[in-house]
Amino acid sequence: MQHILDKIEALKNEIREAAIQNQEDLEKYRIRFLGTKGLVKELMGEMKNVSSELKKDFGLKMNEFKVFAETKYNEFKDSTTESNDQTSSVDFSLPSYPAELGARHPIQLTMNKMISIFEKIGFSVAEGPEIEDDWHNFNALNLPENHPARDMQDTFYISKEPDWLLRTHTSSVQVRAMKEGKLPIRQIFPGRVYRNETISARAHCFFHQIEGLYIDEHVSFADLKQTLYHFVKEMFGGDVQVRFRPSYFPFTEPSAEMDVSCFICDSKGCNVCKNIGWVEILGCGMVHPNVLTNCGIDPEKYNGFAFGMGVERTTMMQYGIKDIRILSENDVRFLAQFKGVI
Ligand code: DAH
Repeated sequence: MQHILDKIEALKNEIREAAIQNQEDLEKYRIRFLGTKGLVKELMGEMKNVSSELKKDFGLKMNEFKVFAETKYNEFKDSTTESNDQTSSVDFSLPSYPAELGARHPIQLTMNKMISIFEKIGFSVAEGPEIEDDWHNFNALNLPENHPARDMQDTFYISKEPDWLLRTHTSSVQVRAMKEGKLPIRQIFPGRVYRNETISARAHCFFHQIEGLYIDEHVSFADLKQTLYHFVKEMFGGDVQVRFRPSYFPFTEPSAEMDVSCFICDSKGCNVCKNIGWVEILGCGMVHPNVLTNCGIDPEKYNGFAFGMGVERTTMMQYGIKDIRILSENDVRFLAQFKGVI
C-alpha cells in the first residue's frame, strides 16, 4: 500500500503547485482529478487490492485526498471566474455603458438665457435670501404696514418676532443691493418667490422672477424702455411687438406693465394670451424716491429704474407647456426631454 500513499502525496503536491489561469486549465484539472476516469476514481479502485486490516486506514486517506482535490477545484473555479480569466466571453477592455446624464430644468434654461442677455449689456448678477424680514420685502419698498397694496401679494408668514416671511418677490433684493451703498448699481436678481395662492394650471405657490435695478445719475424712462426693448428682441426675436401699459406699484413712480404680442397664436387669440393677443411679462417703473431714501440713497442726486419679470410664463411659452404644475412635479419623463439642451 505504501506506493499508493506515496502517489497520493505526489498528487497533492502537484495540486498545490497547479497554475490554473483560465477555464481551459480548470477543465483539464477537473478531468484529470475528478472526472469519471480521473485519478480520484482510479485510486479508489485500488481499494480491492488492499488487505482487509489496512482497508480502513486506506479509506480515510483516500477520502481526505478526494476532499482536498475538490476543495482546490472550487477555489480555482472562484478565482478564474474573476478578472484574470483570459478566455471568458466578457471583454474587459471595452468602454463601459455611457453614464445616464441629467438635464437642465426648463426653468433654469429660460433663466440662463434671460441672465445672459442682461449680462451682455453690463448687468451683473446677485442673489438674496428666500426667507426675508418684513422690512426688506415690504416697508423699505414703500409698503408700510396696513398699506392696501400688501394684499396684492398673499404672503406666507413664518414668525411674528422676528418678523420673518417667505419673500413674495425678488424686489427685496433691490433693497439689499441699495443698502450696500456702492453706486452706480446695474444688477439683476434671479430667484424663487412664494405666494399663498391656490394652485392651478396657471398659478403656483412658488415661482421664479428676475428683478432688475439700475441706479445712477440722470437715468430716464427712455433708458428703461430701451433696455426692455432690447431684452424682448433678444429673448423672443425681432418680430415680437411690445406695449407698455400704465400701472401701479408702490415702489415705482411712474409704473408700467409690459406686454409682448402672443407668438403662440400670432396674436390671433389663444388660451395663453386669453384671446387678447398680448401676454404680460413684467412690471417696471422709475424707483420711487421714498425707496431710495429708505435705502440710504439721496433721491436729489440719484434716480433709476427697476423691473421684475416672471420666469414660468416665458418658459411655458417657449416650450409649449400648458400647465405650470408640471414644472415642479419632477416627472422624469418630462424632464428627460430637455437632455442636451443648453
Ligand atoms: N415685484 C413686482 C411683483 O412681484 C414686480 C415688479 C414691478 C418689480 C415693478 C419691479 C417693478 O422692480 O419696478 O409683482
